[in-house]
Amino acid sequence: MSAGKEKISPCIKWAGGKGQILGEIEKRMPSNFENYFEPFVGAGSVLFFFQPYSAFINDVNPQLINLYRQIQSDPEKLISAVNALDAEECNAELYLKNREEYNQRIKENITDSFTASLFIWLNKHCFNGLYRVNSKGFFNVPYNNRSKGSSIDRENIRYMSKYLKKVKMSCLDFEEAVKNAAQGDFVYFDSPYFPESPTANFTSYAKGGFLPEDHERLAGVFKELDEKGVKVMLSNNDVEDVRELYSGYRIGSFEVKRMINRDANKRRGKEVIVTNYDY
Ligand SMILES: C[S@@+](CC[C@H](N)C(=O)[O-])C[C@H]1O[C@@H](n2cnc3c(N)ncnc32)[C@H](O)[C@@H]1O
Repeated sequence: MSAGKEKISPCIKWAGGKGQILGEIEKRMPSNFENYFEPFVGAGSVLFFFQPYSAFINDVNPQLINLYRQIQSDPEKLISAVNALDAEECNAELYLKNREEYNQRIKENITDSFTASLFIWLNKHCFNGLYRVNSKGFFNVPYNNRSKGSSIDRENIRYMSKYLKKVKMSCLDFEEAVKNAAQGDFVYFDSPYFPESPTANFTSYAKGGFLPEDHERLAGVFKELDEKGVKVMLSNNDVEDVRELYSGYRIGSFEVKRMINRDANKRRGKEVIVTNYDY
């Protein structure tokens, strides 16, 4: 984070969040760039840590982008809505009622402050803070048995809102989201992971998931951006398929702890950061 900026933390827990590898990312950031593009923004740990001056963020999950839009436009209304949900002590019945209400809103395509407040509240009360949807796009994560406590840090949301006011947002597929990146810009790709094995746990953040052919498409977009003179960084699992897709680029590798794995022995893994420039 640069001097003079307020510290902002992600306001939701998100599978694949990059909080623990910010140091590895920082070491490999380009020293200068024009616009910043983050087409798989998720909880935004990288965005909020660096707070780039001219940023374009994107995620295919419409509820997530609705949350950022609500924080951007009216943080106080969102804070009040979450406080109202927190006022009632949670139990399994209330959790299911709010989850049903949220899914009804997804069905009716209602993207407003109340939907965003349910999104934050469910994230705090669901198992492991996971966001997983079924094939119809409905949120299906069970309750974590947390009955009390605040689901929102008000000051953090206010700082986030101030920063997001100058950020441009979209809800598109990643390929579309980087169409306007030009020479001198910087793109950071943090797509869903390439599975470590064919039987690995799969987290579907969005209807349709992210398939091996999407990883191939992503590698094609990386190459096109490289040819345009855009600086590009990409994170993924350290697996052979990823190394093959990005052979010819600079690949840095390091160990990470994995929180979301049912098998405690598999909570360590290796990841890569690929760049098309030297650092
Ligand atoms: C690994 S997470 C990003 C985590 C983020 N860096 C963080 O620190 O929280 C991947 C994100 O990609 C999004 N996503 C999945 N498929 C996508 C697609 N085709 N285009 C854009 N975003 C997509 C998911 O909704 C998810 O938020």
